[in-house]
Amino acid sequence: MKILGIETSCDETAAAVVIDGRKILSSVVSSQIAIHHPYGGVVPELASRKHIEAIVPVVNEAIQNADIHLNQLDAIAVTQGPGLVGALLVGFSFAKAYSFVLEIPWIGVNHLEGHVNSVFLEPDPPPFPFVALLVSGGHTSIYHVTSHTRLELLGQTRDDAVGEAYDKVAKMLGLGYPGGKIIDTLAKQGNSDQIVFPRSYLDKSAFDFSFSGIKTAVNRYIQTHPDEYKTQIQDIAAGFQEAVVDVLVYKVIHAAIEKNCDHIAIVGGVAANSRLRQKIRQDAETKGIRVHIPSFDLCGDNAAMIAGIGYYYLAEGKKSDFRSDVYSRTV
Ligand code: KG4
Ligand code: ZN
Repeated sequence: MKILGIETSCDETAAAVVIDGRKILSSVVSSQIAIHHPYGGVVPELASRKHIEAIVPVVNEAIQNADIHLNQLDAIAVTQGPGLVGALLVGFSFAKAYSFVLEIPWIGVNHLEGHVNSVFLEPDPPPFPFVALLVSGGHTSIYHVTSHTRLELLGQTRDDAVGEAYDKVAKMLGLGYPGGKIIDTLAKQGNSDQIVFPRSYLDKSAFDFSFSGIKTAVNRYIQTHPDEYKTQIQDIAAGFQEAVVDVLVYKVIHAAIEKNCDHIAIVGGVAANSRLRQKIRQDAETKGIRVHIPSFDLCGDNAAMIAGIGYYYLAEGKKSDFRSDVYSRTV
């Protein structure tokens, strides 16, 4: 089954063609980072306008790169939510119109379920059940995953998402947007023992997170060391990153042990983080747990993961109709 995936939930316009939820024929991602960069974050109205400009060329490129004709597509999968409503509407309306013209089924899918299923686009996916840590700019959650479409939420952040904390800390340090990759790079040049920030575990036996405290701690450090901090950016980045990664790794391993799972998946934009990738592999291995992390291209927002999860819903006989609408939050 050849599925066209479409993703426009935030600041990436993406389209991909995937066979049977597993084999990527093409995956095109057009990033708007340069447009939002001067504002230090995503400007929703600008995002929608840029999606409108990009959607047709991006879909055309995905079809071309897949080396198929439009009439070979079997279905369309598109992100329905969560995300920015104006941005989502661009991809969603496009998918409705495209499926109408091509006379093929289409399905609206959940962006977060797309991220979790991104590990199935890799050659050695985890067997069910497994525990997934989703770390992105808008979400930080742990799921017990029993099938492609059945995810039990074990815990989530009570305030900021981890990617959001990275972005905000980068902004405080005057490093630009998006901050995750910049902090990751700087942290490699710093010493994480030099400036130690608090780890917020909340209840150590539960799986909720809180990242607003560490963000405040970094801000307080900057305020109380107004001159000094400028020469300590690498150590601050390393100290912040180590504190965040410690909590993420502890909680997801704890969840896997509690759920008796010997496979963990780490997905979402922050899964690209080098220290997280390194530490989770080290710590999980000593407990006999195998870790699955997608390649860098599949960590950030992309449409291959949307075509991927779409396949599993379509295989269950589900499809959307023209009355369905986008949603900003998962209810
Ligand atoms: O999944 P994603 O592409 O978009 C959302 O659905 O939110 O995640 C984007 C987030 C941003 O907050 C970005 O700063 C963060 O992922 N990120 C990273 C790294 N690369 C991207 N955070 C830490 N380390 C990285 N290497
Ligand atoms: Zn995402």
